[in-house]
Amino acid sequence: MGINNLIYLRCGALLALAALMISISSKAESPSASIRFPNGFLWGAATAAHQVEGRLDNDWSEWEKQPGKIANGDTSEVGVDHYNRFDEDFALAAAMKHNVHRISVEWARIEPQKGQYSPEAIAHYHEVFQSIRKHGMRPMVTLHHFTSPKWVAAQGGWLSPETVDDFARFAAMMGGEYGHEVDLWITINEPNIYSFLTYAAGMWPPQHQNVQEALVAMSNFSKAHARAYHALHAQDQVAADGGPTSSQVGISQHISIFDPLNWWNPLDHFSAYFNDQAFNRGVLKAVTTGVHSFHIPTMRGVETRDPLGENALDFVGINFYTRWLCTGIDRYANPAVPTTPMGWEVYPHGMYRALALANQYTTLPSGRKIPILITENGIDDRSQENRNGYLIEHLKQVASAIEDGMDIRGYVHWTLMDNFEWTSGYSPKFGLYFVDRRPEANLRRIPTPTVDLFRQIVELNGLSTEMLTRPSR
Ligand code: BGC
Repeated sequence: MGINNLIYLRCGALLALAALMISISSKAESPSASIRFPNGFLWGAATAAHQVEGRLDNDWSEWEKQPGKIANGDTSEVGVDHYNRFDEDFALAAAMKHNVHRISVEWARIEPQKGQYSPEAIAHYHEVFQSIRKHGMRPMVTLHHFTSPKWVAAQGGWLSPETVDDFARFAAMMGGEYGHEVDLWITINEPNIYSFLTYAAGMWPPQHQNVQEALVAMSNFSKAHARAYHALHAQDQVAADGGPTSSQVGISQHISIFDPLNWWNPLDHFSAYFNDQAFNRGVLKAVTTGVHSFHIPTMRGVETRDPLGENALDFVGINFYTRWLCTGIDRYANPAVPTTPMGWEVYPHGMYRALALANQYTTLPSGRKIPILITENGIDDRSQENRNGYLIEHLKQVASAIEDGMDIRGYVHWTLMDNFEWTSGYSPKFGLYFVDRRPEANLRRIPTPTVDLFRQIVELNGLSTEMLTRPSR
């Protein structure tokens, strides 16, 4: 090689190096996202009727008035008056540029007596869905979020096969009535949480303490979902959001991560394994394969097949919050780290693990592949200092899961505004908007710092380098 060629090569290398440095420095300064979510990704927030609407008459509303049931003697009586303020509330979600909004309808309002529907309630939810759409968002509608009409409770609640049929009839009615306004349906919210807290842990009405009943309830919920799935598809024939599908029907499954408390103890591994099987997987298996296999060691479980449950899912909805460390029949929050006021560990990598678990149910027996939607994720952050870091860290995990090939179509944050947090009353603060409950404040909604961050994330459809490098608080 001659000396001239060497000089050209050196100059070329220097120029290439300079170009690389310019591109790196412009990347560092550019506001462009360093993590991008897929086009059309759904961004939103969620609420549930009993937690926000106010003035409800269902199986919870009487029970919660009894002394000692709810922290501080709170009740859902007023909620956050969302029943009257829904339009203003949807404007608050739209201010974050959300393109989807998850709510639940109150079955007890719509069908206060078995087989008798309330025209007033039906008209109300038409207004609600039209308002969500007017604000540029797609309604994502949950049919059962923990509360049931009193007549359902009187016939044995979710232990009764009648409830399965009644819920399917309700779903058919909803599909026919609202199909032209709604495409995204969630039949049931967290059948696992509801079944265990209601029938095994004795915490929610009617406060039974019988683990076998919880297994029966999860099986009944799975059957109810399957029947509602087919009913919604049969009745909802209009593609309200445009596109090829008139209805996409999923379930919101709560997924907790279970790890052994002591890594060296095989019994703790065994305990974590069984918690995962019984709590996380039973319902997902039932509504994709039709196989009902609900078990707890040493107890008679449910082993049956429901042919209607085979392929009865269009997306796997997951709600992820935390991880539990298991030993024997007990489970604890990680003692090595601080917890939220709810006593929950903040464990962002659990989001990746929950998505990986959900991903195992995305190939149906028919061969059809279905996507995953995150239908809840959030933090009780009373100091308002931790939610921004929480959101960023969890979204990083979602992005890694997408990068690893998982088909995740959306992220819905729990919750739009502070609300009635079941037996904990109004003290927890999960809201993107803080609700001022002082009498003189008239339930004023006040944006937390996350409102601005969330809007920026949605506008970018991703996370900027600045967001990724800021301290995680
Ligand atoms: C439920 C919500 C609840 C949230 C926070 C989820 O399990 O779906 O209703 O408010 O957790 O506890």
